[in-house]
Amino acid sequence: MLVSAKEMLEKAKAGHYAVGQFNINNLEWTKAILLTAEEMKSPVILGVSEGAGKYMCGYKTIVGMVEGMIEGLGITVPVALHLDHGSYEGAYKCIEAGFSSVMFDGSHYPIEENIAKTTELVKVCAQKGLSLEAEVGAIGGEEDGVIGGGEVADPEECKMIADLGVTMLAAGIGNIHGKYPANWAGLNFETLAAISEKVGKMPLVLHGGTGIPEDMIKKAISLGVSKINVNTECQLAFAAATRKYIEAGKDLEGKGFDPRKLLADGVKAIQETVREKITLFGSAGKA
Ligand code: 13P
Repeated sequence: MLVSAKEMLEKAKAGHYAVGQFNINNLEWTKAILLTAEEMKSPVILGVSEGAGKYMCGYKTIVGMVEGMIEGLGITVPVALHLDHGSYEGAYKCIEAGFSSVMFDGSHYPIEENIAKTTELVKVCAQKGLSLEAEVGAIGGEEDGVIGGGEVADPEECKMIADLGVTMLAAGIGNIHGKYPANWAGLNFETLAAISEKVGKMPLVLHGGTGIPEDMIKKAISLGVSKINVNTECQLAFAAATRKYIEAGKDLEGKGFDPRKLLADGVKAIQETVREKITLFGSAGKA
């Protein structure tokens, strides 16, 4: 059964570790992440962007796949199925389809509009027992064609949104999606500390987990980050392993062209990446 992310994130905040959100793209991705979370006895959040939602033939298909897989694989750790960077309309679609958690990313609206729309969704999610993530200060980089400028959030605005009753809050602190450029200035810990102080117990979310050095991840967790999103790193690991398989000519040996064989090394590479992240985030054994 899918669960809200509320309890797992409140436990993470109190216990000074973070739960990973790993974005899914297809059956192989979902299976790799669920099996690794189970192996490590870690709670886990499966992230679905609106683009990935379309790719996987709609939110209902995804709910069916994930619920079926939890049963079929005998997954016992808490699993939240979460809309990543949702629009207002997208959030409603996911709620209707049976997601257990949604993000409404109103960071590109003026703060008044972000507050108004987030307020509406707080009510709906509370009625249905779902967790809701809000965002202040757009995350930089490009994700599914959405380009953010890498803003640094205003701690006052973070408090205004946190006080609406959301479950967790994503705040821009110089983090970006995708690979970090060589001249990246790093995370803005001063702002993170100021936000943490303002929002108290509210779990904070760090987007753009790919390529953030380990020491910065640990410091961010110590300053109140309880959910860390990782997407690109699994994609890079999958692509590199699949490239290696093809370049070694393994698809030409025996039945190496069978997709169950052709994609197997890529799946193992995703599992290895998820294992490393769960260890780094400290959520192993916390399920
Ligand atoms: P990366 O692709 O940089 O890991 O970011 C993922 C993310 O933040 C999803 O919301």
